[in-house]
Amino acid sequence: MKNNENLRVIVYVSELTSDVAIIDKTLKDIITSANRFNEEHKIYGALFYHNQRFLQLIEGEHDKLSLLMDKLYADTRHTNLKVVVDAPIGVRTYEDWTLDLFNLSENQKIDFDHIITIKKMFDAQCKMDGWLFVQTIKDYINLT
Ligand SMILES: Cc1cc2nc3c(=O)[nH]c(=O)nc-3n(C[C@H](O)[C@H](O)[C@H](O)COP(=O)(O)O)c2cc1C
Repeated sequence: MKNNENLRVIVYVSELTSDVAIIDKTLKDIITSANRFNEEHKIYGALFYHNQRFLQLIEGEHDKLSLLMDKLYADTRHTNLKVVVDAPIGVRTYEDWTLDLFNLSENQKIDFDHIITIKKMFDAQCKMDGWLFVQTIKDYINLT
């Protein structure tokens, strides 16, 4: 894989504002947008949804991620968007899909705030890696 200094990974958390009753449609609409925009701009990553909260990880070129972040900040379907990771990465760790969706059940024990602790662990121990980060989150919430 070619090293690219412009590659970054961003992880943010946010809160749903649109009607929870239509969450399936909302997620479907998001994925439809992502399939088009992310594919075109070579942005790859994962979206977790749980109890009206989102956690999204995106990897791509710095300029392309900025375009997407502008859209995300302007999107009224969610609010309180807080970036928890914004770091350069040497190589892409996601190549195969545009946005991998994890719609987690209400009963799943998960605390997105804990992600900030996971991020701190990363800072202390190793270089940020999108794929490993998502694996760590999946491990934490017992997803295979
Ligand atoms: C939690 C969340 C995650 C989203 N993720 C993406 C994404 O990865 N890619 C994308 O193109 N749009 C994503 N969207 C939708 C964008 O905010 C925006 O609505 C969409 O890109 C259409 O933009 P446009 O109206 O400027 O064409 C997301 C929206 C939400 C609420």
